[in-house]
Amino acid sequence: MSKLWGGRFNKKSDWLADQFTFSISYDHRLAKYDVIGSIAHARMLSKQGIIPKGDSAKIVAGLKKILLQIETDKFKFDPKAEDIHTDIQNRLKFFIGKPADKLHTARSRNDQVVLDMKLYCRDEIAKLVAAITYLQKEILEFANKNKDVIIPAYTHLQAAQVVLLSHHMLAYIEMLERDKTRLFDCANRTDFMPLGSCALSGTSLKTDRVYLASLLGFSQVAANSMDVVSDRDFIVELIGDCAMITTHLSRVAEDLILWATKEFDLVDIDSSFCTGSSIMPHKKNPDVLELVRGSSAKVTGLLAQIHVLLKGLPLTYNRDLQLDKPALFDSVDTAKNVLLVLSKIFASMEVKKGNAAQRVLDESFFTVDVMDYLVKKGVSNRDAHDILGKMVRECLDQGRPLSSLSLGELKQYSLLFGADVKKLFNPQMSVKIKSSLGSTNPNLVAQQLNQWSKKLNA
Ligand code: ARG
Repeated sequence: MSKLWGGRFNKKSDWLADQFTFSISYDHRLAKYDVIGSIAHARMLSKQGIIPKGDSAKIVAGLKKILLQIETDKFKFDPKAEDIHTDIQNRLKFFIGKPADKLHTARSRNDQVVLDMKLYCRDEIAKLVAAITYLQKEILEFANKNKDVIIPAYTHLQAAQVVLLSHHMLAYIEMLERDKTRLFDCANRTDFMPLGSCALSGTSLKTDRVYLASLLGFSQVAANSMDVVSDRDFIVELIGDCAMITTHLSRVAEDLILWATKEFDLVDIDSSFCTGSSIMPHKKNPDVLELVRGSSAKVTGLLAQIHVLLKGLPLTYNRDLQLDKPALFDSVDTAKNVLLVLSKIFASMEVKKGNAAQRVLDESFFTVDVMDYLVKKGVSNRDAHDILGKMVRECLDQGRPLSSLSLGELKQYSLLFGADVKKLFNPQMSVKIKSSLGSTNPNLVAQQLNQWSKKLNA
């Protein structure tokens, strides 16, 4: 089928050049947005008297026919078309004949493709936000199911202090909420309507870009025609947002992978999300989680790719920009996939409560609580740290638990110790006495769980 620019040439383009330059194999995903943009454009052109009303009506009717094909999955893209814009234009000509030639008035593919991409981003941002909310709800449900479970928490991957498992889960919910706000920010910065900028300088035809913006649901019109045809910031941002999401999910996956090992043995990942070994019959491997973790490498790579793609480009449009699409589509698809996969894993994961209960009996978890006990009695934090350090070292040397120290022995470390210090060697007590806002205190955590439940179900 014909190209949109054949007139200038007296020679057919080389087959290899076509193969190399065509984007239809991936930008066909923009079909719907291309048609929606074109319907608005045709309406604007006739409202402004730039094309006859009759022609515009035929164009819109033809485009609606194509839209119906797309929405009912009957649209088969033409691999011989250079890109989706060409494909839709050719199709329209096939359906309505000559009036189709008036559609591309006061428009270039340079502003058209930015519009399509912005409409795509707007839709995908909404889907990503919904997928994040879905995962947050599954995590919340998992937290609520295991409300009273206390687990070890780590710094440097060394056992540090005990926390409520639900507190740990709320940390994930917070991370994901930030991802959502980043997506909203991106949506706001995408919300500038590009169409009407044409190739780069605007047009002498009397278009109405404000009307176009209102038809297409943009709150603002992009102010500079050169900027908007070369701007791909919104794509960098959305890929960046996907990179952040997948980085977060990679960290979540890593926690779960560790917790599922024999060594930690705190959770059971449902077999339907594990795989076996071809040689070791006993293995139950967390491959799905490992691929969640691995996916973040790809999206981070794509973020680097889009930055490098843009950094040396002179204003305005350059064909390099076509390569923004595979990077963006892959990033968004990957982020949506891992969000869904993790949601299913949380929905089917079980906590090994007995193991968790055993693990948190380790008394080294409570040294900070004992330090705070002394601080409350007026000892400086530095001195309390020294006292506890000495107690821990000597108990380790003698191979005995801290709680086995008699009151007399405790008093040798500090006269301020009373018998009541013994009740601190207890995981339930350890979480209960935390009282700072945002801490693992059970009442505060319960409040947070409640608030999130309201927010996520609103
Ligand atoms: N397929 C092209 C892209 O994705 C469409 C814009 C083509 N514009 C041009 N001046 N060749 O960027």
